[in-house]
Amino acid sequence: TVYRASTTAPVNIAVVKYWGKRDPKLNLPTNSSLSVTLSQADLRTLTTASCAAAFGGDSLTLNGELSDISGARTQACFRELRARRAALEAADPSLPKLSAMGLKLVSENNFPTAAGLASSAAGFAALVQAIANLYELPDTPAQLSIVARQGSGSACRSLFGGYVAWRMGDKEDGSDSMADLVAPASHWPNMRALILVVSAAKKGVSSTSGMQQTVATSGLFQQRIANIVPANMATMEEAIQRRDFAKFAEVTMRESNSFHACCADTYPPIFYMNDISKAAIRAVESINAKAGKTIAAYTFDAGPNCVVYYLDEEAPTVLGAFSGVLGGVTGWKEGSAGVKSSVRL
Ligand code: DP6
Repeated sequence: TVYRASTTAPVNIAVVKYWGKRDPKLNLPTNSSLSVTLSQADLRTLTTASCAAAFGGDSLTLNGELSDISGARTQACFRELRARRAALEAADPSLPKLSAMGLKLVSENNFPTAAGLASSAAGFAALVQAIANLYELPDTPAQLSIVARQGSGSACRSLFGGYVAWRMGDKEDGSDSMADLVAPASHWPNMRALILVVSAAKKGVSSTSGMQQTVATSGLFQQRIANIVPANMATMEEAIQRRDFAKFAEVTMRESNSFHACCADTYPPIFYMNDISKAAIRAVESINAKAGKTIAAYTFDAGPNCVVYYLDEEAPTVLGAFSGVLGGVTGWKEGSAGVKSSVRL
């Protein structure tokens, strides 16, 4: 018999950034973070997990190519999920012993992996959820987010849709460092995201190593985790609850700036944004200046690509303004934070 289950997980883009680990083995962060989930019609990973006594070892195929699963993070996810299944099997001997079988995972992204969009977040979230479905685990998304976090920190936020917080927790074993739903996408249905693919090249410094260098060398970073992020988390959560776009936008832009300032304060410095990224920032500034109010917000992760948040009613103004600066942009993609989208990549 072959046992099988499938699932999808969305991409999330942080508006309060995760940058820094207090425990690199368990992916325990130095601060809480908050993200907006993008529509699965646009950006998602689809994963099928299967197991059978006849399967030799474990394997993972990503976009048609065999992936290396020997890494400590992938192994930690497999180990945790198997242990949870083994506990169910021990309690009920009539259950098939899936925990002893080889696992076969097949994953596909509906967007080019090379676009440099947070694919590891959706990837680990889908992997964990697919295996949990296969094993029929009773765990809640929050409990599974603890497992996904060990694959990639930001993956814990992709177990939910909508507006999602990752509470840093303070326990040494990480049992309280998990994701939590702030509001479903339906709470703010006119939220939109424009993704400017500035460069599809693989990023220079990985997040994992970049944040380690920042933690070790940046003085500014200490100020960020002690004061800036806690204040931004509180303001952001309130802005989302009240659907206050201007506040949401201000914190989003300040957070991106603060994160990239800490990268520049890392010694030696790390630069993720390029000249086109900076042109996108100026374009957003000019859109807001012309409108006389804040109608667009930019954010950048560990790469040059820009995500712009705006409300649907401002689409003509925001998209119109961007068509002028799309010269150096290789592709772009528009999508709601939950429902529909159009794709041009
Ligand atoms: C800048 O989750 O990719 O996108 O835990 O080492 O896998 P690891 O890092 P990762 O870092 C994401 C950093 C970020 C900000 C964010 O998503 O919050």
